[in-house]
Amino acid sequence: MPLGRKSRIMVVDDENYICRIVVDTLGSTDYDIVSFTDPQKALDFLAVDTVDLVLTDLMMGEYSGLQVLETALENHPDIIVVLMTAHPTVQTAVSVLKRGAYDFLIKPFKLELLLQTVRRGLGHQKIVRDNLSLKSQVQFLKVVNAFFDTGTDINQYLEMVLRSCNAELLAQASAVIEINPGTGEIVRKVCETTFKDKASVVVDSQLLDQFRDTRSGAPKVVTKAKMVDGRQHYEILVSQPILVRRTLYGVINVLIESRQENIPAGQMDILLLLASSASSAMANQKLYSDLQQSYFQVISALTNSIEARDKYTAGHTDRVTRLAEQVARHIGWTEKRLVTLRMGCTLHDIGKIGVPDAILNKPDKLTETERKKMMSHPRLGMKIIRGIELLKASRPYIIAHHERYDGKGYPKGLSGKEIPIEGRLLAVVDTFDAIISDRPYRPGATVDVAVRELVENSGSQFDPKMVTAFLEVLRLGKLDLVKLYSREMDLSCLDEMPVIEMAPV
Ligand SMILES: [Fe+2]
Repeated sequence: MPLGRKSRIMVVDDENYICRIVVDTLGSTDYDIVSFTDPQKALDFLAVDTVDLVLTDLMMGEYSGLQVLETALENHPDIIVVLMTAHPTVQTAVSVLKRGAYDFLIKPFKLELLLQTVRRGLGHQKIVRDNLSLKSQVQFLKVVNAFFDTGTDINQYLEMVLRSCNAELLAQASAVIEINPGTGEIVRKVCETTFKDKASVVVDSQLLDQFRDTRSGAPKVVTKAKMVDGRQHYEILVSQPILVRRTLYGVINVLIESRQENIPAGQMDILLLLASSASSAMANQKLYSDLQQSYFQVISALTNSIEARDKYTAGHTDRVTRLAEQVARHIGWTEKRLVTLRMGCTLHDIGKIGVPDAILNKPDKLTETERKKMMSHPRLGMKIIRGIELLKASRPYIIAHHERYDGKGYPKGLSGKEIPIEGRLLAVVDTFDAIISDRPYRPGATVDVAVRELVENSGSQFDPKMVTAFLEVLRLGKLDLVKLYSREMDLSCLDEMPVIEMAPV
């Protein structure tokens, strides 16, 4: 039963004095009572309005209490129906109980017995409703926790809780609107609905704005009555603010179409659970993102320090990251994957921290020992980030960017698709940048030379699909090479390239 609402009891009897007695007996207590001497009016009322318990006469001229019982159960599955009869038989009693009646009273009945039966019936109904609500909440928590444990990203997590919310609250649509608690700017809107026309209702930013100046966690409910197929329905829009340490992080909006005017308390409990779950997820996400940002800044400073030592590769990391990002976009990688890519590319040569300056800056050919030391940088890089959970996704970039498609690369000698795709992508742009960038001892090669090098080694050193994707990115002009390398470039070779259609990789 909704919070603050009295149980509604309906009395149906074609004898007015019975209705009066019941109303007089129960009316002095905490019930909301409606009585009907016309059974048809009672049936109409049951079809459109909320009733918790019905007391109905069994025989009412052309009407039967069984009709009332059936209509009541059809419209309100957990309703309590008590039949009243002056002519009881065992057969009648068994029959009405079998059809779903809760109990029956034999007229004339003592008023105390009437009160007891009503109290017992409503008590039973409360237990059933509480159990149902508890079952829903437990089910909801199980689903949420199982999903949360998998470390899924916040969008998927919120979609899942909203789907669960729609199922448990019988909602037509639900949405989360998230803001940056610092700036108040909306950062995310996630909506779940099978009714497309309802989506705009729950993602309306004004539903969030109503909580901007409040620190209260109380929900706001807007109920609109409407007629559907001649029956009274209600469209209930509940907005539950999401607060983290009394700071507004967003709102959850749920749209429920119901025959009932109010939302049962158990369902409101589920919504509170959802809000609390979403607030934890959002707070964690912010913490994670802040921490990742801090790590990233520290690591960027570290890689800058490598480039400061290695006078041949100034700006290399930044350029390689930009080149790789464009290729990744071209082959359809998600924004989430691009975040990892930026981190992985920035970190890919982090292992050079462990390579002595004399080797890094040696203009001549390296000795075998020096070459081995240089070739140890992917493994050294892995050692450096080992144990840092936030940098875990950078591993394939670090370990695999010197592998070759034909298996002759290092450190593992992997070949083909054994090499993580991140390594196959990075190998192409890493080489392109190495060829084309200026070095103190030589000017950078032309785009034509670099492109030919990639094409000639496609299938041996490089994954042909990655070479194709990169050349397409160049041909489509998605990279401003002049700006990237701060020098004039002859890009005419790109005009001659054939158009290549490729599926996302
Ligand atoms: Fe490297």
